[in-house]
Amino acid sequence: MLLKRIKAKIISLIGLEMNAICDYLKFKKFYTKASGASKDQKKLEAWILQDKHRIEKAFTLPKPKFGFGKEVIPRLIDHLATYKKEFCADQVYYIGLGSLKAYINYHSEKKQELPMFFVENIKKISAEDFDHHECDLAGYNQILPAYEENTSKFSDMIRGRRSCRNFNIIKSKEITNELLNNIIDLSILAPSVCNRQHWRVHYFSGELKNQVLDFQNGNAGFQDNIPYIAVVTSDLRAFYSHDERNQPYTDGGIFAMNLMYAMQNFGLASCPLNWCNSARTEARFRKLKLIPDHEVIVLVLAFGFPNQNALYAKSPRLPVDNFYTIH
Ligand SMILES: Cc1cc2nc3c(=O)[nH]c(=O)nc-3n(C[C@H](O)[C@H](O)[C@H](O)COP(=O)(O)O)c2cc1C
Repeated sequence: MLLKRIKAKIISLIGLEMNAICDYLKFKKFYTKASGASKDQKKLEAWILQDKHRIEKAFTLPKPKFGFGKEVIPRLIDHLATYKKEFCADQVYYIGLGSLKAYINYHSEKKQELPMFFVENIKKISAEDFDHHECDLAGYNQILPAYEENTSKFSDMIRGRRSCRNFNIIKSKEITNELLNNIIDLSILAPSVCNRQHWRVHYFSGELKNQVLDFQNGNAGFQDNIPYIAVVTSDLRAFYSHDERNQPYTDGGIFAMNLMYAMQNFGLASCPLNWCNSARTEARFRKLKLIPDHEVIVLVLAFGFPNQNALYAKSPRLPVDNFYTIH
């Protein structure tokens, strides 16, 4: 009995530290370091999908460059060749190839030569593999599935959302404080643990927006084209147990999705931006005093009215049976 009470006391004293160490060990064990990628199909898949995304995304920037991807493309090709040899040629393989096919088509449409690193490396892939119909799942689109603002079925709205990286700066000047308020009014219908509603949204535009985005690693090539950002945070003071350490991000993620649909409802487009910073970078950011210290940043949303000519990454999803198990 005494032993049990001592154990409970120790856990209550160092529970947070224990959780942090366990989280650290678990993350360290499972996350996909580049060096370990080829040993495991799932890890290789993760690398293929993210490098494929980097190529698709580059087409969608306001001023796409030609001959991009010197670091990403040789790695993607090597991973694809290994994937087919060691595992199989499934949809992951073909949508990876699809991004390379889109790269070739893009350069040919614009009458630009393919860079040497591409020409040399692509020889590692059999030419006939590019004829597979699943290759066309990747690439870019100019037109998204249509939906009517305010009246559409929710499923149409879900299908009509895509991350936008090409905004109409002039039209976005029409965004009023009232609209920013109405977006939040809809978003806060998101569920949260015990209805604690611990989210906050910090809107920034202009120079302050750029100051925040300088600490964000995924906006190269479109930072200046972003009219507004919404920094989604969670107030840590809403949590009382060390077992709740991930709850800010769980609820924050649900809220952020609601926020994106609320923006879409008003004809705006958005692009979620990760906030994956080291503790040191975070400390430098915090010195700017733009966000209260008791709030953690869940993610940042770039948003505004979309440019009518914007291209959108196709961002294909894997077959639906990958995502569920019926027990
Ligand atoms: C939490 C989160 C962080 C993201 N970070 C970035 C980012 O830093 N830069 C970027 O261009 N896109 C980013 N994205 C957008 C994804 O690339 C995009 O959602 C994904 O490719 C699927 O495409 P879709 O949103 O068009 O359906 C992020 C998405 C999420 C959910």
